Amino acid sequence: MEPPVPRFIEAHGARIPLVGLGTWDLRGRTCARIVEQALRLGYRHIDTAQLYENEREVGEGLRASGVRRDDVFLVTKIWPSHFSPPELERAARDRLVWLRVPDVDLLLLHWPNPRIPLAETIGALCKVKREGLTRHIGVSNFTVAMLDEANALTTEPLVCNQVECHPFLDQSKVLAACRRHGMAMVAYSPIARGEAKGDPVLARIGRAHRKSAAQVCLRYLVQQGIAVIPRTSKLDRLVENAAIFDFVLSETEMAEIAALARPDGRVVNYAYSGAPSWD
Ligand SMILES: NC(=O)c1ccc[n+]([C@@H]2O[C@H](COP(=O)([O-])OP(=O)(O)OC[C@H]3O[C@@H](n4cnc5c(N)ncnc54)[C@H](OP(=O)(O)O)[C@@H]3O)[C@@H](O)[C@H]2O)c1
Repeated sequence: MEPPVPRFIEAHGARIPLVGLGTWDLRGRTCARIVEQALRLGYRHIDTAQLYENEREVGEGLRASGVRRDDVFLVTKIWPSHFSPPELERAARDRLVWLRVPDVDLLLLHWPNPRIPLAETIGALCKVKREGLTRHIGVSNFTVAMLDEANALTTEPLVCNQVECHPFLDQSKVLAACRRHGMAMVAYSPIARGEAKGDPVLARIGRAHRKSAAQVCLRYLVQQGIAVIPRTSKLDRLVENAAIFDFVLSETEMAEIAALARPDGRVVNYAYSGAPSWD
């Protein structure tokens, strides 16, 4: 019998729930309602961003759920056009105003911005953490080389790198770099924007476990200690996406799923202009 997968990943003192709710593209009432429902169902990790223009609704959903703020791991991100130190500080404060919270759990740099020296941006990120605007800091869409650079520059621990990650994309090098730095890896687009649900290999493995292809896909990631933040606007899928802790994929099944990776497997291609490639 395999040991059970813990429900959290620990990184530099941050305790990140392995399953969270992504909120990209959720707007208005739909966003507030799905955040509220997710929290009522037991989700304790919500992912938003300055870019998504839904932080006000995420905050509304949080308050409507009745779940204590301190019981939720709340993540937001700053867009790279705000990476000069004065702008980053202003943007960090604005996040709290929109969310109507005194602090967030994790504040991320959304994409690298090669036009502004990373030392300056990381310095400002550390400063807002020391000032108590966020409990933890981290990055998103950082390559292996950028992770090394960021970790050499920072004075506060970077707890995670949030990157696109699902069976159709091999992120093993980035995962190894995260582990080397004691960082968590958080998988965005973890069901490849819905592509996983139509995959015959994931569906076949799912039938053997009485699970959907999407659940197999998410399980494949959490079984490696990777946190996942699937996004849905549907209540039944909220339940489905969290019900992944009651089955175990065998080594053979894990290898079969890993073999689905392909060079053009990426589904998110809006790299911030000038960002270097991942390879
Ligand atoms: N840091 C970054 O640069 C970055 C980039 C992209 C995304 N993200 C974050 O990661 C989150 C998740 O990524 P994502 O939204 O790109 O993609 P995703 O979660 O992989 O896929 C979302 C799509 O899959 C569908 N879906 C959800 N659960 C399903 C299920 N059980 N079966 C079948 N289809 C299902 C959803 O449709 P329905 O709504 O109809 O269920 C939606 O169309 C985002 O919302 C955002 O918070 C971060």
